[in-house]
Amino acid sequence: MEPLPPPETRIRQVTALFEGLADTYDTSDTAFSGPVGAELVRRLAPQAGERAVDLGCARGAVTFPLAEAVGAEGHVDALDLAPSMVELTAGEAQQRGASQVEVVLGDAVEPPLEESSYDVLASSLLLFFLPEPDVALTAWRRLVRPGGRAGFTTFGAWPPAWQAVLDVFDDHARRTGRRSMTQAPEVDEDQEVTDFLTGAGWSDVEHATLTHDLVFDDLDHWRRWSLTTWLTDVWMRSPVEEHPEILDRVGEVLEGTRGDDGRLHLHLVVRYTLARP
Ligand SMILES: C[S@@+](CC[C@H](N)C(=O)[O-])C[C@H]1O[C@@H](n2cnc3c(N)ncnc32)[C@H](O)[C@@H]1O
Repeated sequence: MEPLPPPETRIRQVTALFEGLADTYDTSDTAFSGPVGAELVRRLAPQAGERAVDLGCARGAVTFPLAEAVGAEGHVDALDLAPSMVELTAGEAQQRGASQVEVVLGDAVEPPLEESSYDVLASSLLLFFLPEPDVALTAWRRLVRPGGRAGFTTFGAWPPAWQAVLDVFDDHARRTGRRSMTQAPEVDEDQEVTDFLTGAGWSDVEHATLTHDLVFDDLDHWRRWSLTTWLTDVWMRSPVEEHPEILDRVGEVLEGTRGDDGRLHLHLVVRYTLARP
């Protein structure tokens, strides 16, 4: 396996991945960011007039529910490192007439935002793409004013069918020795997330885990969906000429998930974590 590149290179690679995905990110009819973002915001319960920040906003799965909750009197800063994500989400804010939303280009590890200025900080499905989550979490704590709150989502342990799909990709990636551009974006144990947060000075850490049912009509539906998500990175690790074989093997795994409705069901486990600065 290639050695791990330095943090700056990894941040650049992750940015390139999401820059390439910006147009289609999670636009499939099997969306997952939207329901996850809405649930995170529901748990954070932002109030009208509050100031909120969304770190790693992508296409606004968290930003827009936050904007709705804080209303026209509130304010939402949304930050992303991929310029096209910023441009498209800013355009969408304008189209929605959400003038309380400001979308900013920047690195969440060193956020170019005012300290102690937010009531609510949110970051969905970003933390474990960062090469140094502990450094980011320390910077994020400084953004929240005393008495404020933060919410994060991370992937939980992969259920057996997911693990089997990822094992197929790993098997083919082993032949190229190519590393994932993203860090393994899952942390199996709640305690590991708690330790990261408390190590960065956060307190009152609480977790809840929900399982989201991702439903696909058939294997090609799954394939098209995977290419609108971070799984593009997983595809890119394996040689293109092996993709048909990978798809066949994934198809065999997904066959085992077929429900009474005749469709394929992959369960995605998401951890919702709340904390105070
Ligand atoms: C998996 S996506 C999740 C996005 C969004 N929160 C959602 O739930 O749809 C991760 C996003 O974080 C952005 N990102 C990755 N590393 C970043 C960093 N260091 N600073 C800011 N944004 C980053 C990517 O460009 C991408 O848009």
